[in-house]
Amino acid sequence: MLSSLRALFNLLQQQRPENLGVSKANPVLKTIFERRTIRNFKPDPIPEEILRLITDSARYAPSGVNLQTYSLLILRANEWVQKTKVQLPFGAPLNILLLGDFHKIRLAIDINIEAPMAEFSIALVNASLAAQNIVLAAHSLGLGTAILMDSPFGLSDSKKLVKDLDLPKHVFPICSILLGYPVGTLPPIPPRIDHEGVVFSSNYMKQEDLSPIIGSWWKQFEAAYMISRKKSLRKRLDEHYSPLFIKTENSLKETLFRNESDE
Ligand SMILES: Cc1cc2nc3c(=O)[nH]c(=O)nc-3n(C[C@H](O)[C@H](O)[C@H](O)COP(=O)(O)O)c2cc1C
Repeated sequence: MLSSLRALFNLLQQQRPENLGVSKANPVLKTIFERRTIRNFKPDPIPEEILRLITDSARYAPSGVNLQTYSLLILRANEWVQKTKVQLPFGAPLNILLLGDFHKIRLAIDINIEAPMAEFSIALVNASLAAQNIVLAAHSLGLGTAILMDSPFGLSDSKKLVKDLDLPKHVFPICSILLGYPVGTLPPIPPRIDHEGVVFSSNYMKQEDLSPIIGSWWKQFEAAYMISRKKSLRKRLDEHYSPLFIKTENSLKETLFRNESDE
């Protein structure tokens, strides 16, 4: 049963257009299609000049009004444990904690409005673009990354991280980006939704046309999840992610709407 699922998964992998050599001539596309989340790192340290290149790639991401509303807090594995009392997973030697940051805009100009949701949304978009540059730059240099938002590595535990890391008001943790040299070969790509289910022409696709596309992707995704994680995706969603969403919602509200008296 497991071997036939694996064969099906491998077949699906081979059929993906990005694996047909289309991108091989273009190094940017090759990096985009090849990058995978890494969940097994070597303990080897990252040379400073490499870390500098990767973090500088974040500074060159586009951002609304060029406000660059993010900061990167670099914590080696030992520093992370010391401050948060939690180990970095997957043997990662270093964490880049991605922070949404409207604090430093306040250092530049007086802002008389309190608009935490708008600030959060703008910072989140800008920071996400910076994160994408980081993961692609890292991959292009032979390193691996894992973005983590799960507790206690990002939004879900923003209140704890603000406290542990002594972050000022208007700064909120978004996610961790584990960085290091990967062990072994790259893992297979978790199935993506087919092109037709993502890219619509002129009109949003009718539900009766979209449903089978999504249904077929979900089946592949569940099978691939079972193979790679050895557990049921449905069970994981019910038991882990549903409560986590609620926790994230509450933690986020407290972080965004924190008062001066909480400082
Ligand atoms: C916002 C965000 C949060 C994520 N959080 C986690 C996480 O908590 N744990 C984890 O193992 N992977 C996490 N991931 C990695 C995703 O599971 C991964 O990107 C997805 O399965 C697609 O696989 P790929 O990155 O190899 O293409 C996260 C990715 C993103 C973008």
